[in-house]
Amino acid sequence: MKKDEFYSFLRKIPKAEIHLHAEATLSRKTVQALLDRTPDSPAKPASVEKLFSYNNLKDFITSFLYVQGMITKLSDLEAMFDDVATYLKANNIVYCELFFSPSMFMKKGFAFPDMIDVIQKAIAKVEKRDKLTIKLIIDVSRTFGVENAQSNLESTLKHKAPMVIGIGLGGDEEKGPAKLFGDVYAEAIKRGLHVVAHAGEVVGPESIWDALNTLKVERIGHGLSAIQDPKLVQHLVEKQIPVEICLTSNVITQKYVTKAEDHPVRAYFDQGVLVVINTDDPTFFDCSIIDEFWILHTKLKFTMPEIKQLIINGFKASFLTPAQKDAYIAQVETAWGK
Ligand code: ADE
Ligand code: ZN
Repeated sequence: MKKDEFYSFLRKIPKAEIHLHAEATLSRKTVQALLDRTPDSPAKPASVEKLFSYNNLKDFITSFLYVQGMITKLSDLEAMFDDVATYLKANNIVYCELFFSPSMFMKKGFAFPDMIDVIQKAIAKVEKRDKLTIKLIIDVSRTFGVENAQSNLESTLKHKAPMVIGIGLGGDEEKGPAKLFGDVYAEAIKRGLHVVAHAGEVVGPESIWDALNTLKVERIGHGLSAIQDPKLVQHLVEKQIPVEICLTSNVITQKYVTKAEDHPVRAYFDQGVLVVINTDDPTFFDCSIIDEFWILHTKLKFTMPEIKQLIINGFKASFLTPAQKDAYIAQVETAWGK
């Protein structure tokens, strides 16, 4: 299929994206505007291009935190959801589980309840206007230590909003091993939250085992290093633990793969892992979910029926109820069949 045909066909298919960071879905235009109004300092990048140039996770995270740091008003947070909605609509993503990482904002003086209040209203507005559904996963973060993660969880529980469905663990995997966060995760599970974690993005399979065994996560974010441990792949298959693949993100951060063709997603899929396709940080990695499917189709030889299965997996691996999943999957089938 030609590229333009592929893109226009995929735009007609409703999709889910379940590993997407809100702050990384700000448009380039918005980031440029934030940069323009940010006072000069030695840390200030000379341009948006400079801000978005990195080739490892550590430098990417520095840029991510810098962008968060430029968000200084509650109205910026509110406006961020218009950019999120623009991205979702452009890709016909009708259901999204979106990470929001409060740590940096709280360090800058935002109060958690104020942020949740603004976000809740912003989400309600875009859901109504754009006929899509956004659920939030609070990234308690491994970057700022266990106490900070515990405090994020406490705030999440204290100011529980209906669209908040779980917690995640982003940030620098090398600096914050999953096993340190066992108590935080145990408490989250006890209080009825869903739990996911980035694992195996830049650390070996032991990090994925820790996320599964110590944190008891329901899904693995990235899971790139699982390929090094056949027993782990077998475990993921047997338990049907979803792996949130972020291919372009992994290629750009260059830890285990430097080109799409080398990504293990093909091997995972062929062995029966429940893989789901995501962008992670679309503006930072200059990609969209449709771009990701195009790469899978052209560079990793995913056939159109396989692409359809991957799209269905997005809903299957979500935290929707079985009835909701069935309803969305029926919409995919109908749209695909046309
Ligand atoms: N925060 C946003 N994107 C991330 C990633 N890919 N890994 C860790 N933390 C992140
Ligand atoms: Zn991520």
